[in-house]
Amino acid sequence: MSGISFDFCNMLEKNVGAHGVTEAAFSRAAARTARVHEGMCAGKAAMAWRALPYAQGDILPKIREAGKRINEEFENFVVLGIGGSALGSKALFSACCHLRYNELPSSKRGVRFYVEDNVDPEKLCALFDVIDVKKTAFHVISKSGNTVETMSQFMTVLSMLRKKLGADFMKNIFLTTDAKTGILRSIADENGMDAFAVPDGVGGRFSVLCPVGLLSAAALRLDIDALLSGAREADGACVRPELSENPAYMYALLQTLLMKKGANVSVMMPYSEALAPFAEWYCQLWAESLGKLTDKRGKTVRTGQTPVRALGVTDQHSQIQLYNEGPFDKTVTFIGVKEFRRELKIPSPPIPMPELAYLEGKTFNELINAEMSATRHAVTESGKPNCTLTLDRLSEETLGKLFFFFEMATAAAGEFLKINAFDQPGVEAGKRATFALMGRKGFEELRAKLTAPEARDPGFVYRV
Ligand code: PA5
Repeated sequence: MSGISFDFCNMLEKNVGAHGVTEAAFSRAAARTARVHEGMCAGKAAMAWRALPYAQGDILPKIREAGKRINEEFENFVVLGIGGSALGSKALFSACCHLRYNELPSSKRGVRFYVEDNVDPEKLCALFDVIDVKKTAFHVISKSGNTVETMSQFMTVLSMLRKKLGADFMKNIFLTTDAKTGILRSIADENGMDAFAVPDGVGGRFSVLCPVGLLSAAALRLDIDALLSGAREADGACVRPELSENPAYMYALLQTLLMKKGANVSVMMPYSEALAPFAEWYCQLWAESLGKLTDKRGKTVRTGQTPVRALGVTDQHSQIQLYNEGPFDKTVTFIGVKEFRRELKIPSPPIPMPELAYLEGKTFNELINAEMSATRHAVTESGKPNCTLTLDRLSEETLGKLFFFFEMATAAAGEFLKINAFDQPGVEAGKRATFALMGRKGFEELRAKLTAPEARDPGFVYRV
């Protein structure tokens, strides 16, 4: 079995000094864990994502069958979705597949894989330059069925497919949406399509282990059983009532204590290129779940911690200067991998390089891990709280553990902060303004306001 070890020592004052968590603050907060655990137990039924590693027996064969059909009938698989409907698939693809997957010869891979989570016309046109839509399966994912970005992409591929395939154009489309409501659900019902459902109580950023992410896993021929069993293993550890036995509660408690001490930034820094998109997934989870104006009682609290993705070793050469010498406003979560899936040796060079002799015969595996230890040491020495998750190796199983651990830690952090970690009212204003600017019915008043001659001071508007 492939595990993950959690090391939280460097979050504490005794290791990092004044900006770490003090023993007194830790003890006071630890006493609140019983209340947090009660909240996690009482709220479990509403957190339907917690059942995903267990309760999908009837859906899994359909997902596998769809994955098989996708690989038999198509050359490409494109996810159309955004936010929680896209980031889990990106994380899965990067962590579990060859890092140059799409460029491998077709004998060494399944369908080519793309996630389109932007409406940048250049990016979309670039996709259509490299795929033949006739030979492409599109997985359109939108829980609400209302998201302007995904719907505009959907309209575009539908019309392309109609032109190329005639009456048969729907055969390239797979849909995942709410079980009962929304435009996508109606389209599926009206066209006799067997759309997958995002179960009730599973919000976008908690949906990777339902068809939202699992259809990508099936299309990529990943081991879904291992992914879900990894999540179950993590659940086993993250439901324990005792703080000393529950890494999710410990992460949540330490992060929220440090948040209150002014650590407004949470950096996730994996030392594995394959986990860079996982850090993006974490950024959405942590930001959207914990960035809240009010607590559960309606009191203004303005909680949150700005998540930042950094990549080891790359960002040692772009961000570490700030982390070490800049303000005491952040925590760093390092993620390391003990055994990489490949090994590469640094050879003796064909010309004399005596100053570099110390590298000869070492491996890049040793180098990346030495650099992680070195950076962690430097960050600790400069008094910045940090913690480290070490994966024995990267696999579907460990990725399932990571997803579920961070989902549980985020939910527990919501309980420590007494906020609702599962809504996102702050996203609505921008969505409504987009509807208004794009001329959607019912938004005329807002459109008039947004398109009125600007009241901006022209002295502050520049053109070069
Ligand atoms: O976490 C969330 O809820 C969001 O990121 C959504 O996933 C995102 O806004 C897309 O929404 P939908 O799936 O309804 O298109």
